[in-house]
Amino acid sequence: MTETTQQADKATIVVIDDDVHILELAALVLSRRGYQVFTASTARAGTEIIAQRLPELVLLDYMMPGTDGLTALHEIRTRFPNTYVVMFTGKGSEEIAVELMKGGASEYILKPFNNRDLVDRLDNVLRIREIELHNRSLQQEQVRLLQEIDNWNQDLQKRVREKTDALQRAQSEIAQSDKLAAMGYLSAGMAHEIRNPLNSISLFIQLMLQNTTDPEQLEYQGKILKEIDRIDAIIRKLLDASRRARTITNDISIDRVIDNALEVFSPQIETGKIRVTRSYCDSLPPIKADATELEQIFTNLFLNALDEMPSGGQLDLRTCEENGRVVVRVADSGGVIPAETLACIFDPFFSTKARGTGMGLPVVQRIARIYEGNITVEKTSPAGTVFRLDFPACV
Ligand SMILES: Nc1ncnc2c1ncn2[C@@H]1O[C@H](COP(=O)(O)OP(=O)(O)OP(=O)(O)O)[C@@H](O)[C@H]1O
Ligand SMILES: [Mg+2]
Repeated sequence: MTETTQQADKATIVVIDDDVHILELAALVLSRRGYQVFTASTARAGTEIIAQRLPELVLLDYMMPGTDGLTALHEIRTRFPNTYVVMFTGKGSEEIAVELMKGGASEYILKPFNNRDLVDRLDNVLRIREIELHNRSLQQEQVRLLQEIDNWNQDLQKRVREKTDALQRAQSEIAQSDKLAAMGYLSAGMAHEIRNPLNSISLFIQLMLQNTTDPEQLEYQGKILKEIDRIDAIIRKLLDASRRARTITNDISIDRVIDNALEVFSPQIETGKIRVTRSYCDSLPPIKADATELEQIFTNLFLNALDEMPSGGQLDLRTCEENGRVVVRVADSGGVIPAETLACIFDPFFSTKARGTGMGLPVVQRIARIYEGNITVEKTSPAGTVFRLDFPACV
């Protein structure tokens, strides 16, 4: 290996040729031009220098004993993609030139060469190399930037999707609470409107009662009066609920609330039509709420459960604590809630029953939310349905 240096900051060129005169001449011409030149007389020695020096350019003889120029060209271009190769060839056929260019040579120079021509063509290849490498790094940068933009886009799309979902959820909650507000307003208004005509009907029936002696008529009129009283009681309850002031305390025992709500259903339970099983957790923490309002939750859930078990069944009530929340499960052995119904059961006025108002579950949900609670259908199958409620535990 021979080194001839003139200007270390100029490109490094390795010349590989088995002809010593060519090596000397090329080294002389190129180092005069300012290149750092290394020479080798075999492809193997040349490849070692390339591996050490990583030159910008290699001037490689096509015809060499041992490893031929074409094999060496392939090896250099594969192992050192930033090193460009210019081939020396004694033969000037078109096929060889095409073969060399296909093999990754940047240029080929016919021997014997003219010094001026050699320098000019190597200068040219080095300029092209510089531009191509710069382009390559720009392309890599472009790919990197495009990838980065793609990542941002995906991130942005994900965030837009999340926000859209949140917005849709918020909108449907607003729509739901609008409906609930309308429902409260309507029922309070309707209660007043209904009470007046109801009062008149009651008075007329009482008048008729005084003028009748027919026992059948008396029986019917008595029944009508009873039903009027029932309607009046329902309306009074509605009005009371809307007027009643809340009494919130933080010592509400959910077990007691459930038992109180259950008492109303004792006729069905006592006849054995509905079997109730209770599994209450010992030392369940209390919750902060208005007890009467909470009772309403269970009354509505029990009413629904009983509707689903007209010829009897089982009502299973469980309480426990899960992650700082008081959890209640109300399970019935009625039928399954079909998927299309399940999507709507908390919508105000949604009902699958001929005489249902569709107010039961929306009211349950509204009350649960007042006390930072949730209600969900945990499971529904032909064997029955489980509603799960949870509230923050007071500690
Ligand atoms: N335990 C349950 N099993 C099966 N379906 C149920 C159950 N609870 C509620 N549903 C379904 O959800 C619907 C809505 O219930 P919600 O209590 O809101 O209204 P409703 O019972 O139909 O009428 P209301 O309670 O006002 O008399 C019911 O019509 C019924 O289809
Ligand atoms: Mg109901």
